[in-house]
Amino acid sequence: MSKTAFVPTMGALHAGHLSLIELAKKYSDDVVVSIFVNPLQFENKDDLAKYPRDIDGDSQLARSAGATEIWAPTYDEIYPDNPTIISAGALADKYEGVNRPGHFDGVVTVVDRLFKKVQPQYAIFGEKDFQQLFIIKEWVRKNQIPVEIISAPLIRDSDGLALSSRNIRLGDDGRRTALVISRALHQASVSNHPEERMLEILKSEPGFTLDYAVVIDEESFELATPGTTKRRALIAGWVNGVRLLDNMAMSVGA
Ligand code: PAF
Repeated sequence: MSKTAFVPTMGALHAGHLSLIELAKKYSDDVVVSIFVNPLQFENKDDLAKYPRDIDGDSQLARSAGATEIWAPTYDEIYPDNPTIISAGALADKYEGVNRPGHFDGVVTVVDRLFKKVQPQYAIFGEKDFQQLFIIKEWVRKNQIPVEIISAPLIRDSDGLALSSRNIRLGDDGRRTALVISRALHQASVSNHPEERMLEILKSEPGFTLDYAVVIDEESFELATPGTTKRRALIAGWVNGVRLLDNMAMSVGA
């Protein structure tokens, strides 16, 4: 029986998603892409209503990247019952979870439903949503779910901005301002004091409103300590009313 590699998405596909599909292709010829805007992970109903939906355009893009099956289920197909919400654990209340209560519980609940329908051997998640990736890996490990989680590197535009469906809402000025994030990450990655360096650079940009900038231990998601070997800086903040997320592995520094 051929193995299935699965790329769950909410649509609005961009080059970042297409890189997930291309990576999936390395694991199997049978690549399923789901397109489902999951209401359970939106704490803000307005955000849910405004979420871009273009199933035909997305299907074409997904196929051009190598998807063999596009699955765009309805709400009732995913949640025929009144769904029991799966807890994403304590990490769900930190960082992204502070401003988005219930968000990661909604993500884990839908991923559970999607996995049960698709029954993949592999599932690909992007490092762009580093906390989501960590939470899903932990949930799979703790519950012995027989799906191998493959992480795919974050993709940047040529100017350094991490790809996101939200970038389009930034405008030209906002985009220039947003570049402070990747600049801060690059500078931090070669600093002995990455957190201080990031904060210094981010605070020098008046158009950027900081949510958090931290360096964590990739293995535990706790704040990095001097003994941490695999550290990653995470930044979240706002530009022109658009929430942006980015992260980068840190090569040196405490
Ligand atoms: O990362 C996303 O696009 C979503 O959170 C996911 C994993 C498709 C679940 O809805």
